[in-house]
Amino acid sequence: MNQLSSSKSGPLDGTITVPGDKSISHRSLIMGTLAVGESKISGLLEGEDVLGTAEALKALGADIYKDNTGIWHVHGVGISGLREPGKPLDMGNSGTGVRLMMGLLATHPIEVTFSGDPSLSSRPMKRVTEPLTLFGAAFTGSEKDTLPITVKGARMPIPVRYELPVASAQVKSAVMLAGLNTPGRTTVIEKIPTRDHSERIFDYFGVPIELNGDEITVTGQVELQAKDMAVPADPSSAAFLVVGALITKGSDITINNVGINPARTGLFTTLIEMGGKIDFNNLRQECGEDVADIRVRYSNLKGVDVPKERAPSMIDEYPVLCAAAANADGETVMRGLEELRVKESDRISVMVKGLKSCGVNVTEHEDGMTVRNSVTKGDATIETKLDHRIAMSFLVLGLNAEKPITVDDGAVIETSFPGFVELMNSVGANICP
Ligand code: S3P
Repeated sequence: MNQLSSSKSGPLDGTITVPGDKSISHRSLIMGTLAVGESKISGLLEGEDVLGTAEALKALGADIYKDNTGIWHVHGVGISGLREPGKPLDMGNSGTGVRLMMGLLATHPIEVTFSGDPSLSSRPMKRVTEPLTLFGAAFTGSEKDTLPITVKGARMPIPVRYELPVASAQVKSAVMLAGLNTPGRTTVIEKIPTRDHSERIFDYFGVPIELNGDEITVTGQVELQAKDMAVPADPSSAAFLVVGALITKGSDITINNVGINPARTGLFTTLIEMGGKIDFNNLRQECGEDVADIRVRYSNLKGVDVPKERAPSMIDEYPVLCAAAANADGETVMRGLEELRVKESDRISVMVKGLKSCGVNVTEHEDGMTVRNSVTKGDATIETKLDHRIAMSFLVLGLNAEKPITVDDGAVIETSFPGFVELMNSVGANICP
């Protein structure tokens, strides 16, 4: 619990990079573990969530280490090569980590217990245990289907055809990963598209994968060859700098090497519709992912109605969009966000409460919120509820507030964005303990 406060800041200015993509980092470590041989990963996010996945994979038999040039090495054990760890796997704060690992282990004949911090232990796991049971895995734990949960992987996994009841890349990926050690074809049907990093990285590592309309089919028990990965910078982390620059007078920053997979760029689309000056330069592809350098300048923003269909492509970005919306003319309506209530915190109620305490005009809806143009008074302390994105969003809001905004727990930012405060301050933000 380290309190952090942000106060009115001068222009944000400079060229920077933000840490690696969290989704791609988890998946790189997992795929490297399932491949035969050595995979080298550059740009891996060294946040607590991803380091937790690395520890879990090590306990399952992978040899994973970082060399003195910053490159991570993964010596894989091959599909079906995982061994039973001698201890429960603590997945900390990470929903992605635990759900992907449950998928992976559901079709390995070993028994593993997963635990997590109080935030993760209150999040729904039935969304993964239900489809994974169809493969033949058994789950025991609390009746509410929350952690701690013990998975007993299927000895003779059965291929599955499963239609996702919620738009969730984590659930989709859990089923796809379970399909890797299952003979035959496993199909996930996804009516509402979500981030497709698993599809891209499966293809990159040589998994036979077919994309047919809304169906994703993987063929299991195929040997994967080790590959080198370059993880792009996380657009969800870049988002805090982007919004910070848009709302801070005179700002002009460039963030290099950011992932711009179209399934992740809903926030940028929305901010451009709001009048944000955001340019994508030097567009390129790396290891199957789209990448660009992003220039952002201070802009006069106006409120918009964010289309509900856009939610999956910006699901982690609504908290920071609130900071942009408070600084935009008119009102910004955000709907269709039931999933926000089961993230690291209930992000709708936590944001609404915190915004109100900062003097921002906001209305809560069951499925979202409406934020109106406001003079952000600040002079408030925000309860972050073990939620990194809540902490960072309020620190961004504080850059253009009359009085400082304090978050009660800055330590939680380490889960996804190590070095956040130093990086923000290096371009001109005023954030201090
Ligand atoms: C993620 C998917 C999203 C997102 C999370 C990372 C992933 O969750 O919120 O931060 O890496 O697959 P859902 O798939 O549950 O929406």
